[in-house]
Amino acid sequence: MEKSRTVSYSQTTITELMIPSYANFGGKIHGGILLSLMDKVAYACASKHAGAYVVTVSVDGVNFLQPVEVGELVSLHASVNYVGRSSLVVGIRVISENVITGELKHTNTSYFTMVAKDENSKPMTVPALILETEEDIRRCLEAVKRKRLREQFKDDFDNEKCALHLQNDLPLLEGERVMIRPL
Ligand SMILES: CC(C)(COP(=O)(O)OP(=O)(O)OC[C@H]1O[C@@H](n2cnc3c(N)ncnc32)[C@H](O)[C@@H]1OP(=O)(O)O)[C@@H](O)C(=O)NCCC(=O)NCCS
Repeated sequence: MEKSRTVSYSQTTITELMIPSYANFGGKIHGGILLSLMDKVAYACASKHAGAYVVTVSVDGVNFLQPVEVGELVSLHASVNYVGRSSLVVGIRVISENVITGELKHTNTSYFTMVAKDENSKPMTVPALILETEEDIRRCLEAVKRKRLREQFKDDFDNEKCALHLQNDLPLLEGERVMIRPL
């Protein structure tokens, strides 16, 4: 029988206090610190589902909606939303808490695609995903739609890049805040 695991089996949360050394020159937390934490929780969640070593292949939807402050407690909640043959899409919801006031901020939701590798560093088949709740099903359907749109976007953009013509496409720069020096 095909090996399978529930979404809840690998759900993972990492919580970390935002210390002053994580801050940028403006006193807010560096985006790179949050990205690193997201990669860490994605790894923990995906490798638990796969029962194997995983690598990060792509990242979707990283938009920092609100700044995170020093002293806040950041929690990253990760779930496997979808599995292919060797790939897994992990959805990560990032919540930042002001520990003094208890105020919670949803700073972003992002999707990391991870691929499981075997001992020879080749992509390996991961267990199927058992969807137990409406939320599991909704997230999985969203992941399928996102995957299709991404493939469509890639095809469309590859075509646009091939068709790019320096002179003919120059009007696209009208209204943009760029200046072209005479060549
Ligand atoms: C991603 C990687 C495993 C693909 O290897 P490959 O030999 O081309 O293998 P495949 O074509 O069989 O692809 C494996 C899976 O990756 C998926 N994949 C490959 N490129 C992808 C991309 N850009 N976005 C999303 N998924 C991707 C494929 O769809 C496939 O998924 P499936 O098995 O669920 O159908 C390989 O390029 C790699 O190891 N990259 C480096 C990853 C890494 O080291 N990351 C750490 C950051 S430096």
